[in-house]
This record gives sequence, structure tokens and C-alpha cells, in this order.
Amino acid sequence: MTAQEQRLTDLAARDGTQPLIVIASNRGPFSFTPKDDEITVKRGSGGLVTALGALAERHEVLWVAAALSKTDRQWVEQNQDQVQNVEGVLLRLVRAPKARYEQYYNVIANPLLWFIQHQLWDIPRTPSITAETWKAWRNGYVAVNKLFAEVIADSVKDAHRPVIIFPQDYHLYLVPRFLRELLGDGVQIQPFIHIPWPGPDAWRVLPKEIRLLILQSLLASDRIGFQTQRDAFNFVQCARFYVPDAHSRGSRDTVYYQDRTVHAKAYPISIDIEKLEEMAEEPQTRLLKAQMINFIGDNKLILRVDRIEPSKNILRGLEAFREMLDNHPEHHGRVQMVALLVPSRMEVSEYQDYLREIMAQAGLINAEYSDDYWEPVRILVGENYHRAIASMQLYDVLLVNPIADGMNLVAKEGVLVNQHDGVLLLSEHAGAFYELGDDALIVSPFDVYSTAEAMHQALTMPAAERQRRAEALREKVRGAGVRSWFHHQVEDAMRALNHQARNASTS
Ligand code: ADP
Ligand code: G6P
Repeated sequence: MTAQEQRLTDLAARDGTQPLIVIASNRGPFSFTPKDDEITVKRGSGGLVTALGALAERHEVLWVAAALSKTDRQWVEQNQDQVQNVEGVLLRLVRAPKARYEQYYNVIANPLLWFIQHQLWDIPRTPSITAETWKAWRNGYVAVNKLFAEVIADSVKDAHRPVIIFPQDYHLYLVPRFLRELLGDGVQIQPFIHIPWPGPDAWRVLPKEIRLLILQSLLASDRIGFQTQRDAFNFVQCARFYVPDAHSRGSRDTVYYQDRTVHAKAYPISIDIEKLEEMAEEPQTRLLKAQMINFIGDNKLILRVDRIEPSKNILRGLEAFREMLDNHPEHHGRVQMVALLVPSRMEVSEYQDYLREIMAQAGLINAEYSDDYWEPVRILVGENYHRAIASMQLYDVLLVNPIADGMNLVAKEGVLVNQHDGVLLLSEHAGAFYELGDDALIVSPFDVYSTAEAMHQALTMPAAERQRRAEALREKVRGAGVRSWFHHQVEDAMRALNHQARNASTS
């Protein structure tokens, strides 16, 4: 019996043994900043971090993430590369050489994989897979993924209990395969992919070698989590199409490859309902809400809240607003568009250009329509989560029109905290469409004219219909928070571990 089988048999014997849960992600749950001569820690506010808070109460959680800043690196040095307990979470940061990290993040993960999966190409011109891309693939993406796997394997080697590893997102597609090589079959490997997984055609742009390595690596997992069933189905199709000897035997959610049965399953991510409701009442939020009320005055509010990100379709959203003002002059002087935008991935040229175009477009609309008392568009750039939550309480219309989006948490946050029976304008290509589509006004992200008409419809919708839709949306969001998102994944992995353990003890 191998050591791992022994461990699994032990598990079966000692019913209730808690596994070690390992999360691996590029961006970690904490950021470190220098203060005087000390390093201070700040907890991030993302959904995953919040979900983990609840998880850490029940399980031992080890989080492996990249050291992103200079201070993160200093923190690693100070702790001699060892796991540290930070606010109840066992944390280990991966310190990749800077040049390799740049290639992994700024050449492969964000401009290439993100663009493929959100289908953002201007196909006659981009992408061009150049010598630089190949170099970045081998020296950056492959190398950083390998390093992640090595650090994870090193961190769990003395666990003496079952281990479940959850690599997160498109940065870490090669981690499952490297982990399998290092740890064998005894650990459960269960990646979750936060962004859309398009069908086989979209993946054509990747060279065969790269495409195959990504798919084969993911097929070294036990289960792969996606935001929607559609993403899971697309993955199964890609595996059938591109991986020789991978079969689905007619299934929409399972791939059989080599000796492995790999499940592709939807676990739609959500928000922390209790925490958000508390935050909506905090003094800082109330203050920012009062400022926003003052700014909007008697106008109706059309709001959007996004990272500055081409897939969010901010430009067509502005175009639609302009078209609405053109076609429905009765809204002049009565409606205010506010876009709260967080700078993101500014090292990537497409993102810099996108911000410039947004500012120019907003400027043109204001130049054309402003009068002494009214400026139709206001863009506020910066990360201010309290301001985002305060503004979400006030919108009459929330515009969520991405070209493609894994889920779009803004849509869920908005409908939960809004107090104006606001209408949600939702793209049919956001993952949230599958849960919230029935009670939102659905827009095609490319159809500027219909988006403008949907804005008009939302602004003129009878109060009773607004109320009915808003209540139905709120109910749906309240029905599934972020804790259940994670617990479903852990439950599935535990079930598989127990099954494996039973088999090991009877063989
Ligand atoms: P993505 O993961 O692609 O950025 P999501 O909508 O799923 O998109 O999640 C974005 C998160 O970032 C949400 O929690 C949202 O409230 C927050 N956020 C987005 N824009 C801002 C902003 N301008 N200020 C503060 N927080 C923001
Ligand atoms: C999306 C991705 C995440 C990523 C986040 C912010 O939500 O799915 O993996 O962390 O955007 O992007 P950044 O590049 O700033 O980490």
C-alpha cells in the first residue's frame, strides 16, 4: 500500500477527518504595505477572499498566491519562504523572478488567454503569435505555473491527511498537471475557472501545442468548476475536439481521458449577502451616499461599476446612452449617467487605449449635450468599494452590458443593495444572465440601438413593474450566497475522497 493509499484508508477509518484545503490563485487574499519600519497587512475585498473567511472557520485553509508587490516580496523574505498564519489563513506567497512573472501575466494570461476567452479579438489584425509570445509562454507561463505547483507540493508534503487543491482561474491552467506529476493520484485537484469558457472555434487562435497542453493539464484534475453549464459543456466539446483519445461518451459534463474521469460542473459564484448588507449601513457608505444624492439631484441615475476592461463594453454603453439622448430628448436634463471605473492591468496597451477612448467618448457626449445645469456623463476613476455600494443603493438603471463575462458580481451586488426598485439592464453574455435573466431587461452587447431603447424603457417603466422585477431579482440573489458556492465545491471533493478511501480500504 502506498503512503497516499494509507492516508486514504486512515481517512475511511477515522470518519470525519478534516482535509487540508489549498487555494491557489494569482492574486492573493492580502496585500502588504510598508508602514514605518513594519509591514502591515490588508485583507482584500474580493468574493473569493470573503468566501474563504467562512470556509476558514470550518477547515484549515492554506492559500498560495503570487507575491505581487515589492513589499509582498519583502514579507516572503522576512518569513524565509515559509507558510505563515495571517488572520486565520495559512499563507504562502510564490516569488517568481520578475521577468518571468511579466511574461506570464502581461503577455500570456491577460492579453492572450483573457482575450480568447472573452472573444475580444480584432481578428484580421490581432493576435499575432510572435517569437516573443512563444518565449513568454515557455519562460513565463509554463515556468510560473511549475513554480506554483512546486510551492504547493512543498507546502502539503507533511499534511498527513487528505488534501484538496483548488487552483483558481486562467493564470494557473498548467498547475493541475504539474501537481499530478509531483503528488500522484491521492490528492483531489479541482480548478475553478472564473471567466467564460468559449467553444472550440474560439480556441483556434492558439497554436496547437499550447492549446493541447492547457487542455491536457486541466484533464489531470478530478473535477473542473465553471460559472455556468454552458461553460462546462464548451469545455467538454473542446476536450473532445482537440485532445486525441479524450471522449465524452455522449455526456455533456464528463470527459474520459487516459485512466481518468473528469467532471465539468457549474458552480455559479455569488456575493457575501450578510457582509454587503452590513456594509451598506456603515457610516462611510452613508456619507458617500449623501454626496451622491447631492450630486444627482432630481435626475434619474443610470449607473455602471466596472474595472476599466474592454470586455465590460464601456464604450458601447456610452454610445447607447448618447443614442438614447438623441432619440428621446425628453430625458435631457433629467438623467445622469455615472460610471465608477477601477484602473486595471494598465501595463497592457489595450487597457491604456481603452481608458483614453472612454474619457474621449464621455467628453464628446458632455460637449454636445451639457447646459448650464446639466452634464450628462460623469466618470469617476478609482477603487472605492464603499462608494460603489453607496451608488448601487441609488440607481434607477444599472447597466451591465459586457461582451462576455464569467459571472459579473456587480449585477448581483446591485440588485441586493438597491433601494430605488432600479432596473437591471443585463447582457445576454454575462454568466449572471442564467440566474437573473428573467427579471432583468436583456440586451445584446453589440446592439447599441436596442440598448438605448432598453435604457428608455427602464427609465419610463411603470412603478409596479419596477417593483415586481426588483423584488424577484433580490429574492434570487438572496437564495445563493458565496458560502454555498464554496461549500458545494468542497462537498463534491470530499465525497470523491471518501469514495477513493472506501475503494482503497476494500482493495
Ligand atoms: P471582474 O471580476 O471581471 O472584475 P465582477 O463584476 O465579477 O467583475 O467583480 C468586480 C468586483 O469589483 C465587484 O465586487 C465590484 O463591486 C468591484 N468593483 C468594480 N468596480 C469598482 C469600483 N469602481 N470601485 C470599487 N469596487 C469596484
Ligand atoms: C477577474 C479574474 C480574476 C482577477 C480579477 C482582477 O475577476 O477572473 O482572476 O483576479 O479579474 O484582475 P487582476 O488582473 O487585477 O487580478
